[in-house]
Amino acid sequence: MASVIIAGVGSYAPEKVLTNHDLSKMVDTSDEWIYTRSGIRERRIAADDEACSDLAVKAAQSALADAKINASEIDLLIVATASPDTPLPSTACYVQHKLGVPAHATCFDIAAACSGFLYALEIGYGQLLTNRYKRALIIGAEKLSSVTDWKDRTTCVLFGDAAGAVVLTKVPQPNIGILGSDLGADGEFADNLYIPAGGSKCPASQKSVEDRGHFIRMNGREVFKSAVRVMETVAREMMEQHNLTPDQISLVIPHQANIRIIEALAANLKVPMDRVYVNLDRYGNTSSASIPLALDEARRAGRVKPGDLMLLVAFGAGLTYGATLIRW
Ligand SMILES: CC(C)(COP(=O)(O)OP(=O)(O)OC[C@H]1O[C@@H](n2cnc3c(N)ncnc32)[C@H](O)[C@@H]1OP(=O)(O)O)[C@@H](O)C(=O)NCCC(=O)NCCS
Repeated sequence: MASVIIAGVGSYAPEKVLTNHDLSKMVDTSDEWIYTRSGIRERRIAADDEACSDLAVKAAQSALADAKINASEIDLLIVATASPDTPLPSTACYVQHKLGVPAHATCFDIAAACSGFLYALEIGYGQLLTNRYKRALIIGAEKLSSVTDWKDRTTCVLFGDAAGAVVLTKVPQPNIGILGSDLGADGEFADNLYIPAGGSKCPASQKSVEDRGHFIRMNGREVFKSAVRVMETVAREMMEQHNLTPDQISLVIPHQANIRIIEALAANLKVPMDRVYVNLDRYGNTSSASIPLALDEARRAGRVKPGDLMLLVAFGAGLTYGATLIRW
């Protein structure tokens, strides 16, 4: 049976660095509190004239160059984002236009918050396997700074802006590339992490702006507990489905939300931290961009070699979650 492989990876993070020290001048917080509670030291912030699609395009160009594939050859383009350029149309259409992806391509966004990249990867994988499409561009891109409440110290210290992208192609060899994925969601926990206003439930109004309803609201403790539980469960299920033990996984790339969540996941799975990729100290939580950004860095740092088994694990608002197993 043929396989779907990641033929190229790319990422982009905006130039502007916002450190914990900078944040301590904006809200009542400190580098010590942020670092010990989250593991984050600094994050990137997009320029005012940089939209989500601009970050996405830069990551995509890098992934296309890595794959040695031209934008004109892409026939499926999916952008996972929780901070689209506009509510309508999809950010994927802006990206298509800026990149020069042809008009016959299928282009759309998906909303699965921080699990969005793994959801998009699963859709691309399935579509290529059916032969409906030949080359897919899968992007996770976020300008979370545009939906962050910079007066709320419980959330603004956590998030950052970035984008990551992969190019998927099909190869005749079996048992390489994406080996499988397991995705899930539990809407019971939807209110633990959400943006209250700006949708059909609470359209934009003077009151919604005064109430700061267009920014992320979060019950951090509940999200923390759910994250540890669902990431461990889905990662374990993925390994069981493929008859794998944790020592066979060369590298775990978890969603980069909080070092304590990542360490709990590693401890519960019995995977040593030197086989878990962490870069949230430099980027914070970049939602759907976090896994492809980490994958790109890990690969360029020589942490991913041909034949390696990698487990990508995510959770996010929804509560969505997922795990994807890849043989490089
Ligand atoms: C947000 C998070 C770092 C908070 O850590 P925590 O250990 O749960 O801290 P708490 O929320 O219990 O707050 C502890 C105290 O610190 C205070 N605090 C909160 N944010 C603070 C900040 N930035 N600086 C200083 N103090 C802060 C709180 O007000 C609270 O004070 P109190 O005890 O006087 O009430 C943690 O819960 C977390 O990471 N949750 C998951 C969030 C996440 O991953 N979201 C994205 C999902 S994709």
